[in-house]
Amino acid sequence: MPEADLEVLRHRLHQSRDVVVLTGAGISAESGVPTFRGPDGLWRQYRAVDLATPQAFQRDPRLVWEFYQWRRQLLAPLQPNPAHRALAALEQRCPRFTLITQNIDGLHALAGSRRIIELHGNIWHLRCTGCGQVREDRRLDLPPLPACQTCGALLRPHVVWFGETLDPAVLAAAYAAVAACDLMLVIGTSGLVQPAASLGYLAKQRGAFVAEINLEPTPQSDLYDLSLLGKAGDLVPRLLPAAR
Ligand code: OAD
Repeated sequence: MPEADLEVLRHRLHQSRDVVVLTGAGISAESGVPTFRGPDGLWRQYRAVDLATPQAFQRDPRLVWEFYQWRRQLLAPLQPNPAHRALAALEQRCPRFTLITQNIDGLHALAGSRRIIELHGNIWHLRCTGCGQVREDRRLDLPPLPACQTCGALLRPHVVWFGETLDPAVLAAAYAAVAACDLMLVIGTSGLVQPAASLGYLAKQRGAFVAEINLEPTPQSDLYDLSLLGKAGDLVPRLLPAAR
C-alpha cells in the first residue's frame, strides 16, 4: 500500500471544507455483513428476483418477509468496525460532511455518524404498503406478515428493491451534496449499481478530488484521482490525523 497516497489523501482531507463519502457493502464486510457480489455474496446464494423485487413481494410476501427477517437476525448482533467509526470521527473534524450509503444495515448511525443519506433505505425501518408511513422497528420477532399500526395494511421493509426507483428527495439530497463537495471518498462499493455508481464521477466532473478505497479495482478506478487498494477497516482509520 503506497503510504504516499495515504499522505496525499490525509493532506487533501485536511484542506477540504466539504467532504462527501459514498459507502457500499465493502465497508460493512469486516463487521460480518455479507457483500452482494463477492465469493460468499448474497446475490450468489439467492436469486434477487425471487426475493428483492416488488413482484416477488406481491407473489409471496411471506417468503420475502422470511428473507428479510433472516437478514435482520443476522445483522442484529453485528457492530460497526474501525472504518465506520473513523468516518464518524471524520465527520466531527470537517466543516461540512455528508455520508451517502448504499447500505441498509444501519451500522453508520450506530458508529455515531450523523449526516447520513441512505440511498437504498434501511432494513430496520418498515413502510406501510397502504398509508406509506415509515417507522423504525428493530423487533426480531415480527409476525410473518407484519401489519401497520395505523391502517392495518401490510408492512414491507423500507428498502429499495430491484426495479424500483430511489426516493427522489433522497436522491436529490445526494446529488446536491456531491455537486457541492470539494473532496469525495468512495469506499467499498463495486460501482456496478446506478445511480450510486456514477456519483464519484459526477463529483470529479464538478472539480472535486475523488479517491476510492476498495479491496480491488472497480470500473471507476481510472476515473478517480486516487485508488487505494486494501481493507476499509485498515485504511479509513489511517486517514485521521491521530493515526499518523
Ligand atoms: P458489492 O457486493 O457489489 O461490492 C462490494 C465491494 O466492496 C467490492 O468491490 C469488494 O471488492 C469491496 N470490499 C469487500 N470487502 C472490503 C473491505 N473489507 N474493504 C474495502 N472494500 C471491500 O456491494 P455494493 O457495491 O454496495 O442494492 O452493492 C451495491 C448495491 O447492490 C447494494 O446496495 C444492493 C446491491 O444489489 C440494493 O439492494 C438496492
